[in-house]
Amino acid sequence: LNTIVYAQKTADISTISEKTLHTILEKNRTYYTQGKVADYIPELGKMDAKAIAFSVVDKNGKVFNTGDVSKKFTMQSISKIISLMVAANEKGEAHIFDKMGYFGSDKPFNHFSNLETTGKPLNPMMNAGAILTTSLISGDGEKPFLKILDMVRYITKNSSIDYNKSVYESEKSTGHRNRGMFYIMKNSGLISGNEDQLDNYFKQCSIELTAEDLAKIGYFFANQCVRFDGDSTYKNADMAKLVESQMLTAGMYEFSGEYSRTVGLPSKSGVGGGITVSVPGKIGIGVFSPALDQHGNSLAGYHMILDLAKQYGLSIF
Ligand code: DON
Repeated sequence: LNTIVYAQKTADISTISEKTLHTILEKNRTYYTQGKVADYIPELGKMDAKAIAFSVVDKNGKVFNTGDVSKKFTMQSISKIISLMVAANEKGEAHIFDKMGYFGSDKPFNHFSNLETTGKPLNPMMNAGAILTTSLISGDGEKPFLKILDMVRYITKNSSIDYNKSVYESEKSTGHRNRGMFYIMKNSGLISGNEDQLDNYFKQCSIELTAEDLAKIGYFFANQCVRFDGDSTYKNADMAKLVESQMLTAGMYEFSGEYSRTVGLPSKSGVGGGITVSVPGKIGIGVFSPALDQHGNSLAGYHMILDLAKQYGLSIF
């Protein structure tokens, strides 16, 4: 076993500081040169590949930030954990997972051939399952999206968060593969509404926030859906387990298994370059660097998380 790579805890989690984060960020800053900024959504291609940020919310809700901490980027697929929570709160887990699986995948996030075989999306983290999940949230027009947005604002305690209309328009006008999935599921009866429901998915992906906001989301699911400031309005240990288990199984798509082996933490990536990480019962981590690996996960982001996880022995295994 490669113990040099995977097990080298040298510090206690309570000693995490801005200095630690800064050192790890600087070590990994140049990974962006080996990745590629997503441009299949044209507006995302305009992002500054060099931007990088790293945030942690510790057990007591204290925030540590380093890098481009005020830089905003779109949540993209990270929004899928919020829509899963909103839909499961409303409809119950059984209703959702009657229509899709709990599976992991060896296929990319926009894979959907199983809609033709088993007839159901693999999981709520891949696009097909996420589009279906959002369609299960009740309300006409953009109401389901507004519920997701409100939940993001609540978890981050940041009421200024909104969606980026240019990114939304860009994805809406080019997202024909997602549109195709939407209509395949409508054809099979899994989806019953109109295209507003797909627009809600595009809007949730366009919600803009910072690495600090992502760390607060990570904290929330790490701590039984209790907010970083101790507010327990949505406290629900089982909901946190559901979301974290999906993050671990499918949050990094076909990289999830290797990620579990190396980092060992429930995490969710987005093609905007963000990753949110939950260290169960402990802290939340948020990273941002828009250059992605071949799976659509932030490359420098992954390496910053890996270094932090190794240094503080954060893996759940
Ligand atoms: O639907 C899409 O393709 C994007 N809005 C989200 C994909 C994504 O973030 C995949 N994650 N790494």
